[in-house]
Amino acid sequence: MAETGEELVFELRDVHFSYRDHVALDGLSMSVQRGERLVLLGANGSGKSTLLKLLDGLIFPDRGSIHAFGRKLTAEALADEGLARSFRRRVGFVFQNSDAQLFSASVRDEVAFGPLHLGLEHREVERRVADTLHIMGLEHLADRPPYHLSGGEKKKVALASVLAINPEVLLLDEPTAGLDPKTVGFLERLLNQLAEAGKTVVTATQDLDLAAAIADRLLVLGEDHRRAGEGTPPEVLADRRLLLESNLVHDHPHRHDGREHRHPHSHLEDHGHRHRD
Ligand SMILES: Nc1ncnc2c1ncn2[C@@H]1O[C@H](COP(=O)(O)OP(=O)(O)O)[C@@H](O)[C@H]1O
Ligand SMILES: [Mg+2]
Repeated sequence: MAETGEELVFELRDVHFSYRDHVALDGLSMSVQRGERLVLLGANGSGKSTLLKLLDGLIFPDRGSIHAFGRKLTAEALADEGLARSFRRRVGFVFQNSDAQLFSASVRDEVAFGPLHLGLEHREVERRVADTLHIMGLEHLADRPPYHLSGGEKKKVALASVLAINPEVLLLDEPTAGLDPKTVGFLERLLNQLAEAGKTVVTATQDLDLAAAIADRLLVLGEDHRRAGEGTPPEVLADRRLLLESNLVHDHPHRHDGREHRHPHSHLEDHGHRHRD
């Protein structure tokens, strides 16, 4: 029955997590299917980044449990070097802040770092680096230091460094925050292509347009750090009350023809920009 377990990439049961006395997740149960495109939607502070860190085994629940690939994910389990290595190879995390992820002297070295640590042969490393730079359109930046690049370029390098490991599961934290529309479009297409190729893609965002473009399923975290709603993008995005209560849209009064109306707006529709943390 190992195969049935393997259909679920993650399974969370009643997960609680607090930073000292500050609650970040308050009893979340959810699962992620293999090959699924799941978007975690929620306002600032709702617990999205905490959830991704839990899925990546960077932090562990105070209460409740997380299973990954059918095995319980705990600090003790990941203390086993073999298990940690296999987990890190299967799950890749793209941080919200690219500067926290980039440390190499050149883009090429950055992308080579993961494959080198997997212990791949030199030629295989070179092949992976070349392929990844090509897919990401980063060849012209290969010899540049990552810390001198623009925000969008850094984000692509961070993603490239994760893709070079060829993980089964990609966790992305607000991948489009602060990016220009062209780079956002590129990322949306790339994430969908990765999912088509069989990868599981879990993305945290508060951008409803991004959510609509890259999700099979949306899970909404409320400001109470609990599940506020869940469904397909059309279901969730049509639920204006859920979006209002979760602070993903806001409404304000307007006057049309001398009459006052109230109806919900997303920040994106209102102000024509994508907001950042
Ligand atoms: N390192 C931390 N120390 C204390 N509180 C934190 C820390 N990181 C996050 N929090 C708090 O936990 C809650 C969830 O945060 P986070 O997971 O970052 O939410 P999101 O990613 O949805 O904005 C917030 O109330 C936030 O202030
Ligand atoms: Mg966050």
